[in-house]
Amino acid sequence: MDQINTNEPNIFVIFGATGDLTYRKLIPAIYNLYIQNLLPEKFNFICVGRREFSQNDYRNNAKKALKEFSKSTFKEEEFEKFSEIFKYLRLDFVKDEKYQSLKDLIKSMCEKYSHDENILYYMAVSPEYFSVIVDKLKSNNLADNTKGIKRVIIEKPFGENLESARELNKKMTETFTENEIYRIDHYLGKEMSQNIMAIRFANPILEHVWNNRYIDNIQITSNESLGVLTRGKYYEKSGALKDMFQNHMLQLLTLIAMEPPVSLSTEDVRDEKVKVLKAMPIVDEKFVRENIVRGQYIEDKKGTLKAYRSEEDVSCDSMVETFVAIKCFINNYRWTGVPFYVRTGKRLNKKITEVVIEFKNAPFVLYNEDNKLQPNLLVIRIHPDERIFLNLSVKKPGNENEIIPIQMDFCQNCHSLVSTEAYEKLMYDAIRGESTLFTRWDETEFSWKYVEKIFEIWDNNKDIPLYNYHSLSEGPYEMNKLLHKENMKWWDI
Ligand code: BG6
Repeated sequence: MDQINTNEPNIFVIFGATGDLTYRKLIPAIYNLYIQNLLPEKFNFICVGRREFSQNDYRNNAKKALKEFSKSTFKEEEFEKFSEIFKYLRLDFVKDEKYQSLKDLIKSMCEKYSHDENILYYMAVSPEYFSVIVDKLKSNNLADNTKGIKRVIIEKPFGENLESARELNKKMTETFTENEIYRIDHYLGKEMSQNIMAIRFANPILEHVWNNRYIDNIQITSNESLGVLTRGKYYEKSGALKDMFQNHMLQLLTLIAMEPPVSLSTEDVRDEKVKVLKAMPIVDEKFVRENIVRGQYIEDKKGTLKAYRSEEDVSCDSMVETFVAIKCFINNYRWTGVPFYVRTGKRLNKKITEVVIEFKNAPFVLYNEDNKLQPNLLVIRIHPDERIFLNLSVKKPGNENEIIPIQMDFCQNCHSLVSTEAYEKLMYDAIRGESTLFTRWDETEFSWKYVEKIFEIWDNNKDIPLYNYHSLSEGPYEMNKLLHKENMKWWDI
């Protein structure tokens, strides 16, 4: 990583300092940047929360979090120095007058270290506070970019639907410019998601065949083995479509499908991603019935895991989908005719995120007379291993002319290469003002448009089935009906 530009935010304010995200991801991310000397000089951060904590108590919480979530890098003596750069501040987000204490703290830090009010805010709070806090920052003169750099990172969900996303965006842009807003999609910070563009555009051998002449279909999977845990309340309003598909899955899809950008600059990359979303036809009822399968988990076969409807804060007749599989199309020159099968769900048999590119098969002559040859597959695995492999066919050694599948395999995190955690990379970029791995408003808006229509159709057509699937299974059997030809399968390699 390059050494950081010192003309960058010196103050990082996290709203939601006592939440899970801060302890699990944000504090470890900043700590890791700190020990690698990748934070700007004179950097301080303020952890803002609603609960009462002494500095010492909060410090102990942070330490505990680091010991648990940053085990491999935690060192007592490093933590001692690190703890000097953060302060806990109790503040009621909705009360205007309380922001004076934040103002005072920022002012005293700026005076002490003689720098401008260069501030990066992070909204790690529940979404109902996003607009409230942004409003208060404005009315308290804490977002004024004439007094120094101002940036804001906003967690997902960015709205609950198209309308609320638009409202939120309106609020945000009344205070910050689009360039100052960093909408998080942590999938973009994952090493192998970033690698998708590199794999495509740094290897001409691939880019030449990356189109509907050579590719039969593309499968994008993000399966989880955990259920909704304690997030039932949120999930009841969200479901797999809004929680995963609208953001993470569509982001992966755009990276796979985009045209080569003119340059790697933020706007050039984002422009190409948006074009993919624009080329996805808005769905109608027929499409939804034929190309989308939704499911909900029930107990596992042994009866040890709860059904979704028995989870905490979940209604006993909930119709919320915990699984969704969609056969998407991109109507442009490159992709017309190539289905993109996208699926995601909770409580499945394993946690895996990957993209499988299935190439068109060899003609039914030479080695493939009986149509048994496995197609060439290029697999980009994002989780659990960071890996790329290519399935080819070779002759099995021996006297017979038998063909067997083999894999050419590169595994990034199986050897010594250590990957950066997604939040660490995203924090690092936001501090430097690099926003390529954050989503621009039009990306968010187009993806909401696509998803909202599906939602509306489900809502108006209660007869569209919600299939049950057993916890720890592969998902609803009906997802197979989306596949477009005989003998075809969802790859599980
Ligand atoms: C979050 C969703 O955005 O992504 C969660 O809200 C989901 O429901 C999580 O579990 C998955 O992220 P990852 O990195 O574990 O694949």
